[in-house]
Amino acid sequence: MRKIILAAIAVLAFGGGGAAQSFPSRPVTIIVPFSAGGPSDAMARILAERMKASLGEQVLVENVTGAGGSVGVGRAVRSPPDGYTISFGHLGTHVANGAVYKLGYDLVTDLEPVALLPSNPMIIVSKKAVPATSLKEFLAWLKAQPAAPIAGTAGAGSGSHIAGLYFENVSGIKLQYVPYRGTGPAMNDLVSGQIDMIVDQTSNSIGQVRAGNIRAYAITASKRVESASDIPTVDEAGLPGFHMTLWSGLWVPKGTPKDVIAKLNMATVEALNDPAVRKQLENLGLQMPPKDKLTPEALGAWQKAEIAKWWPMIKAANVKVD
Ligand code: MLT
Repeated sequence: MRKIILAAIAVLAFGGGGAAQSFPSRPVTIIVPFSAGGPSDAMARILAERMKASLGEQVLVENVTGAGGSVGVGRAVRSPPDGYTISFGHLGTHVANGAVYKLGYDLVTDLEPVALLPSNPMIIVSKKAVPATSLKEFLAWLKAQPAAPIAGTAGAGSGSHIAGLYFENVSGIKLQYVPYRGTGPAMNDLVSGQIDMIVDQTSNSIGQVRAGNIRAYAITASKRVESASDIPTVDEAGLPGFHMTLWSGLWVPKGTPKDVIAKLNMATVEALNDPAVRKQLENLGLQMPPKDKLTPEALGAWQKAEIAKWWPMIKAANVKVD
């Protein structure tokens, strides 16, 4: 019944209607371009579980990793434009990667936006062995290291890598980067002390911070995160103005019928409005997108604005990718 109602709304709202009437008639796959256990994977799985109810078909999550997320995005770009393959991504994969890699696809013209997803500030975290109890002490410790401190990332052009570059700019501290297939595995090495730090998505680190397995120094926002209100902002802690919000979104390949996109958008918005889903995401420190930013057009405009904002800094960093 729900499928019929959704199809009718999609037809009324977006005309056409041929494609949406039968869509979906088999499982839909969300390609997450980072490994399982990281923040992208976590958000995608929470949303996929609830989107099933709206779409009436399985919504599967497939992790396709490598090259800062660009391998997984490329897989989605080259999928049939029928709505059955969705590209999960964020500031790193759908903005920064375009300034770092020769992608073989265009992040704007080869994809169609579906919906903006929750966002979160980044958080500066270190291995527990670092003898610092404040950001100022941590910066002093970093400066005192005989070699460049090691920062984990999800690969060149990933959100954690861009955050690391930004951190270098504002702190004047040179880092060396160890790329992982996602910040899930990077977090494992931070907990075991193999690497020194990550400028990570708050949602990825918050559990380990609460468990006392890593140290947190500040979040890259002007206001504290409600579900982690004991962690100071960078303005309070000593790196004023180091603000970065890692937002995520969903896209489909160019050419996907508009009424199919409308149906995927509706299922996403229903998930974001579900109180149980909101509670899960907000507990991770994620903030819901504004209600007036939930249309496909709003994500498209946002992505373009973020490209204009971030590409100059990323290109100036002259990131070398092998
Ligand atoms: C990133 O750093 O781009 C992401 O946090 C990686 C991930 O979601 O695993």
